[in-house]
Amino acid sequence: MTSRDPLLRVADARIRHDGNDRDTPDGVGFELHAGETLLLLGPSGSGKSTLALALNGLIPHAVPAELTGSVLVDGVLTTDATVARLSQSVSMVFQDPDAQIVTGTLLDEVCFGPENLSLPVTEVLARAETALRQVGLWERRGENPDRLSGGGRQRLAVACALALRSPVIVLDEPTANLDPVGTEEVYAVLGDLVREGGHALVLIEHDLDAAMTIVDRVVVIDGAGHLAFDGPAATVLRDHVDELLALGVWVPSATLAGLRLRDAGCPCPSSP
Ligand SMILES: Nc1ncnc2c1ncn2[C@@H]1O[C@H](COP(=O)(O)OP(=O)(O)OP(=O)(O)O)[C@@H](O)[C@H]1O
Ligand SMILES: [Mg+2]
Repeated sequence: MTSRDPLLRVADARIRHDGNDRDTPDGVGFELHAGETLLLLGPSGSGKSTLALALNGLIPHAVPAELTGSVLVDGVLTTDATVARLSQSVSMVFQDPDAQIVTGTLLDEVCFGPENLSLPVTEVLARAETALRQVGLWERRGENPDRLSGGGRQRLAVACALALRSPVIVLDEPTANLDPVGTEEVYAVLGDLVREGGHALVLIEHDLDAAMTIVDRVVVIDGAGHLAFDGPAATVLRDHVDELLALGVWVPSATLAGLRLRDAGCPCPSSP
């Protein structure tokens, strides 16, 4: 691997859950490099969450589904590696932080992942402190996660991912259960991560007003699970807004406003 090699390389991925009669996604590929934030867009059922589960090997190792094509993580085929090995390269944050919380204090929670990697105690604690400071929760380390707001619990889930030190973090609708304040808190943390560099993020998100503050690239999957568009965020949203709306994909308010102006005969030269 050189520093220019992608952290993730997905080639012609087709995934069929056991019992389903079609692949979703169906022939999707993309590469993700260090420092990039990629937004995965598509209508409900197009296979975004399914693809996310393939990025750290949960598919095919833990979820009953068939994967064809290939997913390479740090140059390693996911089919050839264990989920434990892959979790050191790709960590996940899901929609419902409570489904991921298993311990009684914030500190224990963030230590849980590194402990499972059998790291020395000093290393576990050092990682936990760094991660909790990054998300602004170090001062609350002794508290029960129940005492946090929804945004706080999702920031805790991000800290757990950070403590694993995996270069790729996949976030599947991380703000779906949050109010606007919680969403803002989570994106403030993600924005810091992106600015500090080093991490690559794969984001699945409906609230594009929040997401567009950190997104570089957009990959769009259509209703049949096929790759529809892949390109710089501003280009995809500007050039394909009609197709995105026809697919039932949400677009940022600014893009909608630009569309309304265009339809009223006052086109904006560039509305992201
Ligand atoms: N565990 C499962 N077992 C069987 N089929 C599944 C499973 N999870 C998802 N599917 C099916 O796979 C297809 C893709 O679902 P997926 O959840 O990946 O879509 P999505 O793009 O994430 O949708 P949404 O925007 O609603 O979250 C759908 O037809 C869905 O019914
Ligand atoms: Mg989903």
